[in-house]
Amino acid sequence: MKKTLDEHAARFDDLAADYDDEKSPEYNECVALVLERANPDGDDTVLDLGCGTGAIALGLAEAAGRVVGRDISEGMMDEARRKADERGIENVEFGQGQFREPNYDGEVDIVTSNFAMHHLSDEEKRETVSVIADLAPRRIVLGDVMFFGEPDPEEPFYSPEVDDPATVGVLADAFTDAGYAVTAVEMVHEQVGVLVAERL
Ligand SMILES: C[S@@+](CC[C@H](N)C(=O)[O-])C[C@H]1O[C@@H](n2cnc3c(N)ncnc32)[C@H](O)[C@@H]1O
Repeated sequence: MKKTLDEHAARFDDLAADYDDEKSPEYNECVALVLERANPDGDDTVLDLGCGTGAIALGLAEAAGRVVGRDISEGMMDEARRKADERGIENVEFGQGQFREPNYDGEVDIVTSNFAMHHLSDEEKRETVSVIADLAPRRIVLGDVMFFGEPDPEEPFYSPEVDDPATVGVLADAFTDAGYAVTAVEMVHEQVGVLVAERL
């Protein structure tokens, strides 16, 4: 991680009020793909890590039984809670938790994460995948900044001073080593994609 957890949390606290304004087409496509691929049943519990202002958690709430959002930024989660109240969504809860310590040990059927895990180093991502695997969801859907080709800071989505994206291969290996089969890889942009992994 190129910044500490506190630095990331403070950065997103500052961004929270404006975070939902003017998202890129690639971000929107990534959100749509994560929602589609997560595809929960009505009694499923979904855990959304790095939930931010709730794009995924709130988007899945109607289809799922329950959604648990975890993040390190209270400012981002305050926005998510406000949006849940506005929309009358009652089966979603947001609370403090980080990728490697999600602060959740209940049953979980599907784990999602969108545009968040790229803040971790590759080793920290591997640890995260292992922590998620210990919760034994049947499906993990990861939308994120990831490299399909050579890293290029001149291209959008990758700011080396704060981001530390992995290659698609590193992520696929992490899932496979944790007992999951990568069943879909969607390239949204050369530096953005969605991976779907199912428990073996
Ligand atoms: C770019 S936002 C994405 C938010 C949301 N998932 C979305 O799709 O809009 C990244 C989020 O990851 C959170 N984050 C960064 N590092 C984290 C960590 N180690 N554990 C949990 N959340 C983290 C930030 O606080 C922020 O809310």
